[in-house]
Amino acid sequence: ADTLGAAAAEKGRYFGAAVAANHLGESPYTTTLDREFNSVTPENEMKWDAVEPSRGTFLFSRADQIVDHARSKGMKVRGHTLVWHSQLPSWVSGLGASELRSAMNNHITQVMTHYKGRIHSWDVVNEAFQDGGSGARRNSPFQTKVGNGFIEEAFRTARAADPNAKLCYNDYNTDGVNAKSNAVYAMVKDFTSRGVPIDCVGFQSHFNPNSPVPSDYRANLQRFADLGVDVQITELDIEGSGQAQATDYGNVTKACLAVTRCTGITVWGIPDKYSWRSSGTPLLFDDNYNKKPAYDAVLSALGGA
Ligand code: G3I
Repeated sequence: ADTLGAAAAEKGRYFGAAVAANHLGESPYTTTLDREFNSVTPENEMKWDAVEPSRGTFLFSRADQIVDHARSKGMKVRGHTLVWHSQLPSWVSGLGASELRSAMNNHITQVMTHYKGRIHSWDVVNEAFQDGGSGARRNSPFQTKVGNGFIEEAFRTARAADPNAKLCYNDYNTDGVNAKSNAVYAMVKDFTSRGVPIDCVGFQSHFNPNSPVPSDYRANLQRFADLGVDVQITELDIEGSGQAQATDYGNVTKACLAVTRCTGITVWGIPDKYSWRSSGTPLLFDDNYNKKPAYDAVLSALGGA
């Protein structure tokens, strides 16, 4: 196979990219997307501020553009994200506890119902744990008002809304074994032991020199898989260039392939110029959509050429 998507498919995986609706009119962007990838994640268009900017008013047109494009090309779609403290409209954070709880459940139900049957995996809850060594939950409106049970409730509501979508918990700095990933691990173990519906854990995998690919990356993916959930690499980017960056990208890809339940990889953008990082060259294509050494390393790790 000579594309990322086709090579991944031969290994029983998908290979996706985060996509922004406002770039879909740029011909080399869409040509590269359609040629190389068989899954997409809307980068911002499904977030709460985008789809429910005021209470009960749902705006799906920008997200629909991405979903319609992807599905017309036979690509899978990852839904990102239903419950997150960021990109949260102020009307949500201003609600009292019981109103916030019903707004959360209504948001999940409305958004998942709109996309029912069209999303392979949803990031139901994103980034609910703190950085650092505490293993504690992050202080978000959901955590402080709805309380510890908000994650479980979100997953139960999500299962009812679209029983065929895989339901994921997604986070960053959980890529190696550390206090934060231990806390997520304990939650997933508790959920699976009590029958709380969770199907997958997303490892964002935003790497840079201060936060390199952990040496126990594969082992960490494997320990989650051993709990009986799928694992997915959901927002991969690696700051760097040349052969060093290529080696890291190749190693991440090999780690996923070494874990049977690692079902796919998504890179967080297509050309470097559209990365969320304000500077640097963290992606697989340069600003002119040329394949970088990192691209070749991923394709070769996938068994393609
Ligand atoms: O759309 C508005 C535009 O109307 C406005 O004029 C402009 C001025 O600032 O802002 C535009 O919104 C920006 C939005 O991206 C769309 O481009 C926001 O400012 C900007 O903050 C937002 O950044 C996104 C970021 O999440 C926000 O938290 C990035 O594109 C997106 O890549 C990034 O993605 C996150 C994942 O969702 C979760 N994991 C971490 C990852 C990287 O930060």
